Amino acid sequence: MASQMNARAPKGTADMLPPTARAWEHLTRTAQELFARYGYEPVYTPLFENTEVFTRGIGEATDIVSKEMYTFLDKGNPPRSLTLRPEGTASVVRAALEHNLIPSGGPVVKLYYAGPMFRYERPQKGRMRQFWQIGAEMLGAAEPSADAELITLLWRFYEAVGIPASSMRLLINSMGDETCRPAYRDKIAAYIRDHADGMCEECNRRVETNPLRAFDCKNPACKEIMSGAPLLRDELCDECAEHYSAVKGHLDSLGIPYVEDPSLVRGLDYYTRTVFEVQVDAGLGSQNAIGGGGRYDRLMQEYDGPPTPGLGFALGFERTLLAMEALGGGAEGIAKTEVYVARVDGSVSGAVFSLVSALRDSGVAAETDHQGRSLKSQFKQADRLGARVVAVLGPDEVAAGQVKLRDMTSKEETTVSMSEAASAISALLGRQRD
Ligand code: HAM
Repeated sequence: MASQMNARAPKGTADMLPPTARAWEHLTRTAQELFARYGYEPVYTPLFENTEVFTRGIGEATDIVSKEMYTFLDKGNPPRSLTLRPEGTASVVRAALEHNLIPSGGPVVKLYYAGPMFRYERPQKGRMRQFWQIGAEMLGAAEPSADAELITLLWRFYEAVGIPASSMRLLINSMGDETCRPAYRDKIAAYIRDHADGMCEECNRRVETNPLRAFDCKNPACKEIMSGAPLLRDELCDECAEHYSAVKGHLDSLGIPYVEDPSLVRGLDYYTRTVFEVQVDAGLGSQNAIGGGGRYDRLMQEYDGPPTPGLGFALGFERTLLAMEALGGGAEGIAKTEVYVARVDGSVSGAVFSLVSALRDSGVAAETDHQGRSLKSQFKQADRLGARVVAVLGPDEVAAGQVKLRDMTSKEETTVSMSEAASAISALLGRQRD
């Protein structure tokens, strides 16, 4: 006998059903409109890449590359190693290089993307194996005003989807560059070696490959030791210090509130200079970073391309939605049906069908019953769908060429002629019509 089918989505993945899928569309639409104002254009790259794109770009010693990638061989001869994208930056930079999007001396290129990413992580609230990101990348811009513009865009996005500034924490730091970071890295490695006995196995193991990750270790003993470690902030070269201070100056001038966090290191190796993260406590546990990013001026060279400054961010959809819900917004608040056309009985179904079609043709989101439900249950359904107006048609109304409109907020009822129904409904919805 065949074994029982396991009709469940794989661990760490989730079907995105309505209303979550509606929220995803709302967020991507908001991003489309807002990002376009900042000059961004959409880009779609493959969901998988040659594995090397990520090992080189993100770094062999990162958790993402060493533990979390979905890597497989294709059926070629010889087979190629491919990896489901764990993030979008490496792919966008690979595509920019392949298509020579930033020829030497060319203008800045701004690209954004929205879609699923894959990391084999331990699933928990706000942490999935397939999760959804909206990201933006700016290539060719070296000046600190670009960093500030990008951070501002992320901040404005969250505000636009209803996360108030007072509920967010923007952390920023500078990771230095190839002039000042190597010496600092050695210093931290030496510091960890000096405190090896008190620190966890993982931090000790990473001391050669990625000592800065020790700042992110959750082990209380490591945290305690790392709180006394030297800070890169105090060791930046003059150029990096100047850049960092100019970024802060631009943020100050816009009134974007930030907190300097000298231990913010982020989990990807490509960063140079500015890094940032936005955290929200409401609705989230330990996975409280709803988005983050930074500058990666050497990434294009990792791919053997020409030196090209770059910077970007990605925001996590699942965590952003959890925060929105905890703060009283979220998917339920996003309007779907505006008008529900209810019928008193089946004898008026023709008139109902015409009215609901005319409303949709005029741009109104209208819904009606197709199941012969009672008037009471149609009103319940209208409520459930969030309709702001219910139009009621019965034999009496149809005979008189009229329709009854009920404003679901004020509960007021008016009767209007059928020919005025669309404009009266628009007026109730607060819209201006020609
Ligand atoms: P990241 O910090 O790895 O950066 O991810 C960005 C956001 O994606 C996180 O802040 C979080 O909200 C969300 N996220 C990450 N992993 C998961 C997960 N397993 N489950 C749910 N949400 C998750 C990047 O990916 C960089 N590419 C950002 C960037 C763009 N830097 C420069 N340009």
